[in-house]
Formats: sequence, structure tokens, C-alpha cells
Amino acid sequence: MELLGIDIGGSGIKGALVNSDTGELLTERHRIPTPESRKPKAMAEVVAQLVEHFDYKGPVGCGFPTIVKNGVCISKGNLHKSWVGVNVDELFSQATGQPFTVVNDADAAGYASMNYGVGRGKDGFVIMITVGTGLGSGAFYNGKLIPNFELGQIPYKKYRKIEDWAASSAMEREGLSYERWGKRFNKFLTFVELLVSPDLIIIGGGISKKWNQYSHLIDVETHVVKAELMNHAGIIGAAVSCLREHHHQEV
Ligand code: BGC
Repeated sequence: MELLGIDIGGSGIKGALVNSDTGELLTERHRIPTPESRKPKAMAEVVAQLVEHFDYKGPVGCGFPTIVKNGVCISKGNLHKSWVGVNVDELFSQATGQPFTVVNDADAAGYASMNYGVGRGKDGFVIMITVGTGLGSGAFYNGKLIPNFELGQIPYKKYRKIEDWAASSAMEREGLSYERWGKRFNKFLTFVELLVSPDLIIIGGGISKKWNQYSHLIDVETHVVKAELMNHAGIIGAAVSCLREHHHQEV
């Protein structure tokens, strides 16, 4: 089946058509910058532009960079506070005329890696970390998603949340080298290891393309691999999320 997947991030809103049987992208990825206000109306307009770009009619799966429960945004993440309480499924369905299923972006990326990528067939406790504007995390136990894990929210030093110190946005903001940023990221991974003892950690998001620049700095005990689907995992996982049981709040 051909489905549109959209991955919403703090800096870009990206989409592509995906083959939901194989998890392959069927088109080039199309990216539109996230509006600076990061507010619902402006972002819904960009989502509508993406749907129009692909001239797409049908169910759309969408990864969203906040806690999402039953299609409703629960936290502001790195977006505007007016998102909290918004039914994102409804907002985007209205803006585009197509039915939307909206899930957390890192949960979506993890879902793709567990089904089509390096996580395939991996039992035990697997954590997907997406590195971008924020630090997203998706948790899987024996292949089953535990939704809305938020490991990037751990407070650290003077930072309200460790993602403000160790996401790739911190590298840009503070002009850090890969060497310096990689040490921060490794510190974050040591916390993840200490807190939840995963069996495997998968690293995704835009930064997975630069893996060779920092992977030598990762020295946790847990096996750490890059998502070979790279930053396409978010789009692929989002697309197929509309095929899953509509929402997965059984935990
Ligand atoms: C949000 C997460 C999200 C992550 C990556 C964080 O700020 O709290 O829900 O997955 O950013 O976008």
C-alpha cells in the first residue's frame, strides 16, 4: 500500500510516499522549513502544502515532536505552548481534507527501525534515540512500543532538560565541534544506560548521517548502532502508523 508519511520537526517538516509493505520510500523526500512561530495554524498550513505537493488522497501518518496521546498534543516540546491540548489529528485532517494519524516522532522512527531496519527481530529492551532540535526517544520491549518515553527531559546542570545541552541544536547554537558535542551526547547515553538498562540503542535523526564524526566518542557498555534508515525512519514509521491499531494507548 502507498501511504504518505510526514515527519514534523522543530526545523523542518518532511514528507514522502512510502510503500507500507516494504518500508521503502517511493518518492524523493520533500522538506519545507518549520514556520518560525511554531504555532498550530502556521504549521497546519505547511502540512497542507506537503499533502498538495504529493497530490495525495488517503490516510496520512504523521510524526509529531511532542508527547501525543490519542492524537492530542500533551506537551509543548520545542514547539509553541499553544499546541498543548490541541487535537492534532483533527487539526491536520481539517487542514488537508485527509484522515490523519499523529504519533510521537521518535516512536514513529523507532517503529520503522524495529520493523524495517536494524532493530528488526531484536528482542529485549531497545531504545531509539532521535537527535535533532530535541532528543527524542522510542522504547520497545520484545518489539512492542511503549509510547511516549521522554528521556530527553532529564534535567542536567543548569539546563531544564538535557536535550537543551546535548541535542544537535545545541551544537549549532553553541558552535560546538563534533568532538565536543559527541562527548555531551555520550554523557546523555550514560544516563540512558543507568536509568533504563537497554539491550540495544539505535541512533537516528539527521545526525545519523554524520555518524563517523562522533561514533568513536560513544563508550557506553550497551551496544549502540546507527539507524541505517537514517533520518528517513521518521517518515517511514509515521506513514505506517496509520495502519496500526489506530492508537496504541493500551499501557
Ligand atoms: C519532545 C519529544 C520529541 C523530541 C524529538 C522533545 O522535545 O519532548 O516528544 O520526541 O523532542 O522531537
